[in-house]
Amino acid sequence: MSDRVLVTGAAGFIGSHVCEALLARGQSVVGVDNFDPFYPRAVKERNLTALRGAAGFQFVEADIVRHAMPLDGVSVVLHLAARPGVRPSLEDPASYSETNVTGTVRVLEAARRAGIARIVFGSSSSVYGDTTPPPFAEDAAAVWPISPYAASKRAGELMAEAFAHLYGMRIACLRFFTVYGPRQRPDLAIHRFTSLIATGKPVRMHGDGSSERDYTYITDCVDGVLAAMEWTARPGGAANGTGVAEPINIGGGARVRLDRLIELIARTLGREARIERHPDQPGDVRLTAADLRRAERELAYRPAVGIEAGIRQFVRWHEETHGRES
Ligand SMILES: NC(=O)c1ccc[n+]([C@@H]2O[C@H](COP(=O)([O-])OP(=O)(O)OC[C@H]3O[C@@H](n4cnc5c(N)ncnc54)[C@H](O)[C@@H]3O)[C@@H](O)[C@H]2O)c1
Repeated sequence: MSDRVLVTGAAGFIGSHVCEALLARGQSVVGVDNFDPFYPRAVKERNLTALRGAAGFQFVEADIVRHAMPLDGVSVVLHLAARPGVRPSLEDPASYSETNVTGTVRVLEAARRAGIARIVFGSSSSVYGDTTPPPFAEDAAAVWPISPYAASKRAGELMAEAFAHLYGMRIACLRFFTVYGPRQRPDLAIHRFTSLIATGKPVRMHGDGSSERDYTYITDCVDGVLAAMEWTARPGGAANGTGVAEPINIGGGARVRLDRLIELIARTLGREARIERHPDQPGDVRLTAADLRRAERELAYRPAVGIEAGIRQFVRWHEETHGRES
């Protein structure tokens, strides 16, 4: 029976939540991850706690660039493995290109060879760069990335487009807008700020605090991924009969200023935030804002968790795990 789902990046923040949600729906899942050292293996092992030994779940430690993908019995691939992070991509652009471009091509090619036409690719709002007018609509050209990470994600989308066209694949390129929630990557702002404020350390705030982000709570993100997985099963590709690679925004639907975010985290923790001001960082965009009309039309996607409720959940999780994290 070919109804297994392959999830790359299964030990990561989003991937581990997606695997859990798939198992909860009775789906059989094979997860792949190479424990990339971008953040500690111990954290990723902990992400897998609920999955290890769960019925219907198989984990394969493998590198998407170098190893064969376990595609036996797989009908759909959720490709979430990547080198994430905008700022670190300025330090080591080649490794971002290798994992996010070459790795994505390897996954697409392995799927094609195995006769699998259904793919969900984890892309990023960063592809919109600093010049797309808000709210960001998927039809924007998105050809002016301002970091190697953003360029690598856009390149992955373009590879998906070529594979869809050539081989009739049906690919959803989900442009995630800053995802947060329990198990969020330790390098991301909400996690960092929470750890710093909780321990009375100063928070580095880049810019004057007026930059804005559209934040997506993890359960909304997972709903978007699962809806996109169903979308890939729909018949028909583009009008010319070939496949389709459709970019679709997955956002929270509201803009939150950086200074308000810091204040909200501090208030939720019941502490004061000590803010250190620093200049804007190269590679960071000033604003992200998702136009969610396509997601609603194609996926019936409607984010349900606002920033206040989401931060409460995140802080609760952070407090529960505090002391186990570095
Ligand atoms: N978290 C966000 O806010 C966000 C925003 C936009 C896009 N994304 C994208 O969503 C996806 C998941 O992000 P995340 O936040 O869960 O990141 P994450 O780092 O927690 O998860 C990615 C996983 O991929 C694995 N990986 C990296 N290179 C690999 C390789 N060569 N072979 C096998 N596995 C490899 C890592 O070990 C990691 O566990 C990524 O593609 C990321 O670029 C995330």
